[in-house]
Amino acid sequence: MGNKIRVGLVYGGRSGEHQVSLQTALAVLKAFDYDKYELIPFYITPKGQWRSGPLLSAPPSAVAELQFTPAGEASAGSGDAGGTLALLPVLQGMSEKVLTEGSPVSDGKAIDVMLPLLHGTFGEDGTIQGLFEMAGLPYVGAGVLASSVGMDKVAMKTMFAQAGLPQVGYRHLIRFQWNKDREAVLANIEELGYPCFVKPANLGSSVGVSKARNREELVAAIEEALRFDRKVIVEEFVDAREIEVSVLGNDDPRASVPGEIVSSNEFYDYKAKYIDGKSIMVIPAEIPQETADAVRDMALRAFRSIDGSGLCRADFFLRRSDGKLFINEVNTLPGFTPYSMYPQMWKESGVSYRELLDTLIQLALERFEERQSIDYGGGE
Ligand SMILES: Nc1ncnc2c1ncn2[C@@H]1O[C@H](COP(=O)(O)OP(=O)(O)O)[C@@H](O)[C@H]1O
Ligand SMILES: [Mg+2]
Repeated sequence: MGNKIRVGLVYGGRSGEHQVSLQTALAVLKAFDYDKYELIPFYITPKGQWRSGPLLSAPPSAVAELQFTPAGEASAGSGDAGGTLALLPVLQGMSEKVLTEGSPVSDGKAIDVMLPLLHGTFGEDGTIQGLFEMAGLPYVGAGVLASSVGMDKVAMKTMFAQAGLPQVGYRHLIRFQWNKDREAVLANIEELGYPCFVKPANLGSSVGVSKARNREELVAAIEEALRFDRKVIVEEFVDAREIEVSVLGNDDPRASVPGEIVSSNEFYDYKAKYIDGKSIMVIPAEIPQETADAVRDMALRAFRSIDGSGLCRADFFLRRSDGKLFINEVNTLPGFTPYSMYPQMWKESGVSYRELLDTLIQLALERFEERQSIDYGGGE
């Protein structure tokens, strides 16, 4: 037992992607090498309640069978997992005790590294990363800044533009402007021409995304997107193939072979992604070598432009008319079941699912180590 790396696995969560996260958690729990790791699952209910599970030193057959206790009420499994409970006040609500007495896991034994498997809001957006920073815990994946930039499509595009990455034309609006001067907002957007694509700035999984072919549809699409966010982005429509690349690393990241998503629907919406399962992944993508090289290079630039760490999946449009590449977005916590694009592209590049988990944990520990060595000017 003694020398195993103890991993805190956080999944579920207050987001539309709760179910996806559960599937991912089960796959990850099963894939770990239990000679090297022991795991403590943390389940976040859809309402945001934290529950801690038992210390696992073998893979569970199903997540649903694990016993979970509400955070802070009872002991999580065996006695030596007690440190996890000390962590919970932080995770639950930043109690005053924790803020004044420092990290509750200062014995250094409780949890070695946190692995958040939460997609979307309150997981992929920097909020939980901030909690881990405050708790002094290493964690897998992007930091606070990269996570939040990667979640907000407007902020992300600003970074991409700064890095000189090609993207389609876009405009954005906030609800306040929409309510105040709709005509001006529409006139500004219509410079893009029709059809255009309307998306909430901060949601993933294609929720609230629609295509507008005329003003009437545009108004409806904006109203729809505003249900999900106060900020909306509208983009030029591009008739394109969708090419993706997996990135892995910290300061010196690597890019996988590119893959292509061939959607079953008109565009890659929520249904195509998660429900009918008809979308096809083609890995490696059948594209010319120069295009593959270019897209991998752009994926690394995109990763650096948001100051990424650990992992990200960079998504591109390859325009059908002329083969021009545009970056669409990066996902700092991409789908991560063994059958998802991200691990599949690594598999094709020679990195197995298990090796991927090993590498991500190693990268998390390295990043933490480096941050520990920084002088934050706080004194003693
Ligand atoms: N500008 C665009 N032109 C054409 N299709 C688009 C455009 N933007 C998005 N799409 C389609 O909508 C899907 C979802 O959009 P995306 O920006 O990737 O949002 P999400 O964060 O929800 O994945 C894309 O995978 C693509 O199929
Ligand atoms: Mg997408």
